[in-house]
Amino acid sequence: MTLTLQETRQHIQSSLLATGASPEQAQSESGWILEYLRGVSQATLYLTESERLSESEWAQLQDFLYQRTVKRIPIQYLLHEAWFYGLKFYVNPYVLIPRPETELLVEKAMALLKPGMQVLDVGTGPGTIALTLAHQQGQSVSITAVDVSPEALQVARINQKRLGTEVLLLPAGDLFAPVAEEQFDVIVSNPPYIDRVLKPTLTPEVLDHEPHLALFPPESEDAYYFYRRLAAESKAHLKPNGHILMECGADMGPDITQIFLQHGYTHIHITRDYAGLDRIITASL
Ligand SMILES: C[S@@+](CC[C@H](N)C(=O)[O-])C[C@H]1O[C@@H](n2cnc3c(N)ncnc32)[C@H](O)[C@@H]1O
Repeated sequence: MTLTLQETRQHIQSSLLATGASPEQAQSESGWILEYLRGVSQATLYLTESERLSESEWAQLQDFLYQRTVKRIPIQYLLHEAWFYGLKFYVNPYVLIPRPETELLVEKAMALLKPGMQVLDVGTGPGTIALTLAHQQGQSVSITAVDVSPEALQVARINQKRLGTEVLLLPAGDLFAPVAEEQFDVIVSNPPYIDRVLKPTLTPEVLDHEPHLALFPPESEDAYYFYRRLAAESKAHLKPNGHILMECGADMGPDITQIFLQHGYTHIHITRDYAGLDRIITASL
């Protein structure tokens, strides 16, 4: 006999806790997995807790838990979905899974946007920032998105279609190469910023499954590589009074400020996240 839904939930949670997942994460994931297995909402799951899984659902669960807890594939890649700013994004292993920290970048950008403005998202991945801004702003601003990865842009195209947003997704190219001489009012970017020396601190979910192109600067470069390039290269792409907003790592704010000062930027502001860590740098000339 198989387990009841309530027992299955416990079983999934213990399996996840054994991999080092936090209790909150284990609780959320167990709900998503049951939702996926049964094809019903959370509310229905709670109303039917004493029901038992069918034999085929149980077999499917074993396979799912193997992928999730032994192969350590992130749940978002197994379900092909990730939530960001209340929107459901399609994801696959060619794109970084959108992180809640990045929502702060969206909020800071929205506070600067005015009708008619032109925005550029550099390193859009699955379209996280660009498509969310487009969803929030409608057609009052025009948004362009670029990425070096054609596979990531393909995922952004899928999300663009699903969300019904209007973003100009350009062919793949290095940083500003796809936008030639164009200038923008606001440039946003969440560039790869994890120092390769930190690899041993990353979970297998991140290190073994998320694209290294999205996590790390190129080999032999330090964590500030993209900020140096953004500081040097964005000047040619900002309109007068334009702003660049970037996500950064927890303690990177002061060094990024220095980099932008050296490149002639005058107004540089660090925004900390809810945990009090440096998270967003805003700079203008
Ligand atoms: C940290 S991910 C951010 C993805 C998404 N914007 C987000 O915030 O969730 C960095 C993105 O930059 C892209 N990228 C890496 N090197 C790049 C380069 N030289 N030029 C343009 N994009 C690059 C990666 O493919 C990846 O999609």
